[in-house]
Formats: sequence, structure tokens, C-alpha cells
Amino acid sequence: MSGSPIGTFEEQVYADLPALSRAVAERLVRLAHEVLRRQHRFTCALAGGGTPRELYRLLAAEYLDRIPWDKFEFFFGDERCVPPDSAESNYGMAASTLLSVLPLRADAVHRIHGELPPAEAAERYEQVLRQQFPAASGFTSFDLVLLGIGRDGHTASLFPGDKSTLGEGERWVLPVHAPAGVSPPWRVTLTLPMLNRAREVFVLCAGAEKREIVRELLRATGHAAARYPAAEVRGVDRTVWFLDRAASPDE
Ligand code: 6PG
Repeated sequence: MSGSPIGTFEEQVYADLPALSRAVAERLVRLAHEVLRRQHRFTCALAGGGTPRELYRLLAAEYLDRIPWDKFEFFFGDERCVPPDSAESNYGMAASTLLSVLPLRADAVHRIHGELPPAEAAERYEQVLRQQFPAASGFTSFDLVLLGIGRDGHTASLFPGDKSTLGEGERWVLPVHAPAGVSPPWRVTLTLPMLNRAREVFVLCAGAEKREIVRELLRATGHAAARYPAAEVRGVDRTVWFLDRAASPDE
């Protein structure tokens, strides 16, 4: 969909969420060092939801000296339309577990303003991204995007069956009204073409309640990709799915 080259794909299975989180942290260290050998900054879009909390806490507790954090810039894959101090805010979660602890530069965090009307928040974030990642032909965006998977197969705030969002080819960021029962209903999300401009994508997925959806996403053929946007997310260089045993379709 994005026209970007499709990188390598890996699936890694770990005993449990702590082991998975440590593996992601180690991989992040390697990637950051590799990238920072050839450029002056490392750009990373964070995921919301419960799964990455453990990773964020681990990085804050044990990785302060292992990564040149002053060269990091953080972004978000999606945001719930709530104020930043709400318990539902993805920024709020990342700030309290990780960002407030790291020795970052003052302008290193680019949050999505969930407190604004959704269309305005999307527009504003897109402007930030267009400044940060000038769109010449063949451009890439983030060095790394972290994602989670919802039980319904959504990723970031790209929900299965949301044809208008999933069919978007131009916009990098869109406001989204989530399906009934998802709280909070309004979200702002990166679009599929923008996600697929990232160099590397790490998908974090843990817990038995995710096993069936992971099976569909990773093992089904035919219409699955069209049904599930998560199955279409591919980093330009690499995509890695980090699963725990409970979520793995083969365990
Ligand atoms: C959000 C997310 C979303 C999340 C999945 C998985 O804001 O809700 O960014 O895409 O990653 O819903 O969430 P859990 O890790 O809580 O299962």
C-alpha cells in the first residue's frame, strides 16, 4: 500500500511478558547503537495499551546507562482523545513509566494532543511529522515503531473493517472513531502508509486472550490481511513480532 520495500519478518517467542520485555529492550539497545553510528538521532514511536508498560518500566529502571537517551526523539503511534493526565492517555502512561525518568533533551517528546478535537489533533501531529520526516521520494519515517495488538486485531488505532481509515493513501495521521464498546471512542492514529515507512517495527503481544487473533493474523491466508490492518504493517528494513508463549499460536 505504501509502495515501500518490504523488509525481513521475524517471529520470536518468549516464556512470558517479563522475558519478552527484556528481549525487546536488548534489541532496542542494539538497534539504537547501530542507527546512531550513521545518524545523529534515533526516532521511536511508542505504543499505548497495557503490554508495553513492563518494557517502559524496565528501560527506566535498568537501561539508563545503556542507551544514549539524549539522542532519542519519541513519538506515538496513536493516542486516545483524552487529556494527557488522564489514566487513559498513551502519552500519560509513557510519561509516567518512562519518559519522565529518561535524561532526554527538552524537545525530544512529540506527543499527540489528545485534549484537542480529534481532527485538530490529527492535523497538528501530521504537521509535526511532516517537519520531522521530509517526504522526498522513498523517504523513511521512524527508526522504530512499537505496536501492540488488540483482541479484535487492531493495531495503533487502525481497526479491522474501518474502510475509510484503512483506505487512506495520502494522510499520515487521521482521527478515528473506534467501534462500539472501545473506550475512549475517539482516537488519533498513524495511517498504514505512514507506519509502513518506518525502518523497523516491533509488535509486542502477550497473553492467552491474544492467541486466537495472533493465529489469524500470522497464520491465516487469503482475506486475513485485508481484514486485519495489523497483518499489513511491515517495516522497511524489518518487522519483528515479539510473542509470549501464551499468545503464540504454535505453543
Ligand atoms: C491503544 C493502543 C492499541 C494497543 C492494543 C493492545 O491506545 O489502545 O495503542 O493499539 O496497543 O489495544 O493493547 P494491550 O496491550 O492493552 O492489550
